[in-house]
Amino acid sequence: MKQLFQVDHALAKCQLSIVRDHNTEPHRFRAAIRRLTTLVAAEATRGLALRSIEVDTPITRCPGHTLAQRIGLVPILRAGLGMVEPVLDLIPEAEVWHLGLYRDEHTAEPVHYYSKLKPDSPVQLAFILDPMLATGGSAALACQTLKTWGAEQIKILSVIAAPEGVARVHQEYPEVHIFTCIVDQGLNANKFIVPGLGDAGDRIFNTLS
Ligand code: PRP
Repeated sequence: MKQLFQVDHALAKCQLSIVRDHNTEPHRFRAAIRRLTTLVAAEATRGLALRSIEVDTPITRCPGHTLAQRIGLVPILRAGLGMVEPVLDLIPEAEVWHLGLYRDEHTAEPVHYYSKLKPDSPVQLAFILDPMLATGGSAALACQTLKTWGAEQIKILSVIAAPEGVARVHQEYPEVHIFTCIVDQGLNANKFIVPGLGDAGDRIFNTLS
């Protein structure tokens, strides 16, 4: 599949096993999501546009770099919140613009309920943060919203993806790159990722019961 990057890393495999395990408690689940986010974000940010600067070391002046673009992190509420801090650790100057979408449990269609996007002030590069890409409906709606906002470039950072969701995003937004730790087997009849990890939002925020 084009425009898809899948992390191939020993640590990602171990952390994925932790988030898949239904016995993993919320605090360990959150920590594993943070580690997986760091691994996927390192790849998604590898080729960021840079501006040349000069740096004075204690010894002499030398060439250096700084980020050249306005970068926005767009966590999809709720589960995307669990990915914000590790990406901010890597890109401290990034802006965070929240988007609230939930998947209707009967139709599996995304429902938009919150947007903090400031009109007329789009970032140049937007990273959509959401651990799960299932049908791709939420990601596609997020892409549409960000394009309407005026974001020039969009990348999706996820932890786990279904082939169906990847295909949908690629079909509707072929220019959008998807970075994920794993592409799973597919969706079940209830549109849940198999083998998956259950509902990331409920497991991050301890709202399963
Ligand atoms: C989950 C997940 C994605 C979406 C993926 O969110 O975090 O946002 O579903 O499904 P899709 O690709 O089929 O659209 P959910 O609706 O459970 O909301 P939550 O994060 O508040 O739990």
